[in-house]
Amino acid sequence: MCPCALVPLCPCAPVPLCPCAHLSVFFNTFELLNSHFMKRIENIGVFTSGGDSPGMNAAIRAVVRTGIWEGFDMYGIYRGYEGMIDGQIEPLYSHSVSNIIQRGGTILKTARSKRFMTPEGRQQAFGNLEKHKINALVAIGGNGTFTGAAEFTKEYEIPFIGLPGTIDNDLYGTDYTIGFDTAINNVIEAADKIRDTATSHDRLFFIQVMGRDSGYIALWSGVACGAEFILVPETKTYIDNLTRLVKHDIRKNKTSGIVIVAEGDDAGNAESIAAQVKERMPELETRVTILGHIQRGGSPSAWDRMLASILGYASIKALKEGQQGVMVGLINKQIVYTPFEEAIKNRKGIILDLLEMSRVLAL
Ligand code: F6P
Repeated sequence: MCPCALVPLCPCAPVPLCPCAHLSVFFNTFELLNSHFMKRIENIGVFTSGGDSPGMNAAIRAVVRTGIWEGFDMYGIYRGYEGMIDGQIEPLYSHSVSNIIQRGGTILKTARSKRFMTPEGRQQAFGNLEKHKINALVAIGGNGTFTGAAEFTKEYEIPFIGLPGTIDNDLYGTDYTIGFDTAINNVIEAADKIRDTATSHDRLFFIQVMGRDSGYIALWSGVACGAEFILVPETKTYIDNLTRLVKHDIRKNKTSGIVIVAEGDDAGNAESIAAQVKERMPELETRVTILGHIQRGGSPSAWDRMLASILGYASIKALKEGQQGVMVGLINKQIVYTPFEEAIKNRKGIILDLLEMSRVLAL
């Protein structure tokens, strides 16, 4: 049995069967044998894909430098899967990743590739990897990146490791994703400023934050900026309920407030929610701010640099151990490997108790 006691380990499985990916002593031995017979890794390609996130550069730096330290030749693939298909591939050296740990965005550029979703696109991409003798990959990205990776590894035998890089923090198999911490700090910096003007004018501000269909950014930034209300896709939003609570706050002498709205909320976007509340309370002065891509930019926080460094280093160690087709994450301060299929199919829920807590603390 796997130490987590969820599923038995099978000697013929090339990856752990349990999503928790705990490795037994037996399994380690098996992997050593496995890696012995495995094709030797020569050149490793690294790329970023999907929406950029602060800390991706720190991760690239860690992957490249650890790879070189371990004796591999490292290659950068530009613009994610798009660049793999178009052959935008260049060698990377230790100095190529100097002075980037503090920079937001990604020096390797990024893209969302529709062509990689086709067998023809993937075949062309594999051909380009072969040209450079790249026989292992490290991708830094989110759900879409790992969906592509899962397809690719079904068709082509290539060790492929993923690192969780997205501001949304929506990936199963890791407590935090690279970029989330910086993004929520960007949100609270803006929300604190909005609080000044909201208080001065006695207004209720609706601030829309990113997160696609996850409420992580909204919940964490909402708690951290003391928002009166936090609306997330994980719970149903009732406008009548929200209006009742706003009235309650006014009765308790609150003259202004902040509502953080996750972009995926079921009641609509911040503009539409503000309009629905205003319809019920015409006397209320409301304003809407959509933070948008400002959340994704800027120098990564200390935590994002740290996480990117730890996971980038671990990705090369994982390749050396013979891991393939897994995302490397950090859970309870432990490195955890989650097969791509598991990372894609499972959903990481938010801690709903925090919603209730935020309301109590904002009263
Ligand atoms: O996944 C990261 C993210 O920033 C989401 O929060 C957001 O919904 C999406 O990307 C925006 O994508 P784009 O930059 O392509 O508009």
